[in-house]
Amino acid sequence: MLKPSLKDAQKRTRKEVLVKTNEYILNHDLKALGKNKTYYVKTYGCQMNEHDTENIKAILEDMGFEESLNMDNADVILLNTCAIRENAHNKVFGMVGRVKTLKETINPNIILGICGCMAQEEVVVDEILNKYKHVDLVFGTHNIHRLPQLLSEVMNTHQKQVEVFSIEGDVIEDIPVKRDSKYKAWVNIMYGCDKFCTYCIVPYTRGKQRSRHPEYILEEVRKLVRDGYQEVTLLGQNVNAYGKDLDTHYGMDQLLEDVAKTGIARVRFVTSHPWDFTDSMIEVIKKYDNIMPYIHLPLQSGSSRILKLMGRRYTKEEYLTLYHKLREALPYSSITTDIIVGFPGETEEDFQATLDVVHECKFDSAFTFIFSPRVGTPACRMQDDTPLEIKNERLQRLNHVINQYSREANEKYQDKIVPVLLEGVSEKSDDHLMGYTDTMKLVNVKAPKEYIGKIVNVRITDIKTWSMDGELALEKVTN
Ligand code: 5AD
Ligand code: SF4
Repeated sequence: MLKPSLKDAQKRTRKEVLVKTNEYILNHDLKALGKNKTYYVKTYGCQMNEHDTENIKAILEDMGFEESLNMDNADVILLNTCAIRENAHNKVFGMVGRVKTLKETINPNIILGICGCMAQEEVVVDEILNKYKHVDLVFGTHNIHRLPQLLSEVMNTHQKQVEVFSIEGDVIEDIPVKRDSKYKAWVNIMYGCDKFCTYCIVPYTRGKQRSRHPEYILEEVRKLVRDGYQEVTLLGQNVNAYGKDLDTHYGMDQLLEDVAKTGIARVRFVTSHPWDFTDSMIEVIKKYDNIMPYIHLPLQSGSSRILKLMGRRYTKEEYLTLYHKLREALPYSSITTDIIVGFPGETEEDFQATLDVVHECKFDSAFTFIFSPRVGTPACRMQDDTPLEIKNERLQRLNHVINQYSREANEKYQDKIVPVLLEGVSEKSDDHLMGYTDTMKLVNVKAPKEYIGKIVNVRITDIKTWSMDGELALEKVTN
């Protein structure tokens, strides 16, 4: 048993990051282990986790398992968890309880595994070991490639397996992937984070910042182009710091340019920390039509005092300067953000400063959260006297303003013709398709299914707060 250690996860050494291309090993027996068996993976949290699930699914299918769309019939159930806030944590334990009932009533041989960021938390693994005896397997974010060996141990010995590395991490290049979409793909460009914002658990659960070498990233994108993909999203916790840990001067600006040059129709990237956003990146975004005019730029707070306590390394003024520079250079772009309310010590005045920034920036949309203390982070130890009802009330006031600006931003699209990558059938109705504009606005369009996977011009006919309706247009894009 190898349990996670918070103390080790907090460490950053000068140890060289190794690129490993022979770590994923599947012998003949492992390839047959899943024959006539099914799996079900439930994913929580961010795009990074979604993409890890694509790796996990491919590994399970390499082992002969078939995907079950229904948890109740599956032989192996994996929960790929998120640790970022308490509510994600609670949802996972709710599901762990449901699987217990399944094991007790339908099939006692179900194998239940927990992976992802919660598995990297020492307190969580202790809780699992003490209270949830029916969990059979725990593995972390650094050792997904070891899933075949761990699962085989559980299946052959019926012994619980816990293997979580709390080391800073290497880069494993040979993990297979089963992509959810045939048209858009996630591509990791880096793992981990060294920013250590004081509220955030990610630097502990995902380890040291490790950039993938550009040749591996570009090869992956070129293959996607050959396979007919239309869109790639370059993924990392802090993509603007890409390359800073490599011994070269190759950074996010060059990577973006090289990815754009592969000819893929659409390039996106998330998430950007304002600290590392360079002028030369802005130039590259401007220069290439296939780099999408959409920037997610987390603000977190509009109060410079709180930003300092958060360890964000910028002031309100510096954020605004960057924001206006982006808007000026890329007038057509949409800019979205993340905001936390109720950080320890946040006063009404601090909150007002956040509202001021929102009024000035008029974000296209925002993800808003109430601060959630995470064990092991510095903010968890800060004094926090604001009652939850005040935090809730601030969140509601903030959301009200955010929604108003989202709608206003969408209203600018009325009667415009915009490019939309149609991804699939709309939830709204069977004869509508859904997709996203270049600026990441969700659009429902009346169109035949043959259009799925194509980028088409759409005239926007109706505006809502979180989506728009449109119809296929023959005319050119108007922006
Ligand atoms: N509490 C609340 N929100 C958080 N986030 C990260 N950590 C916390 C926390 N402890 C938010 C930040 C980040 C987004 C992914 O989640 O806004 O940008
Ligand atoms: Fe967390 Fe800050 Fe790193 Fe984002 S940049 S993952 S908020 S520590």
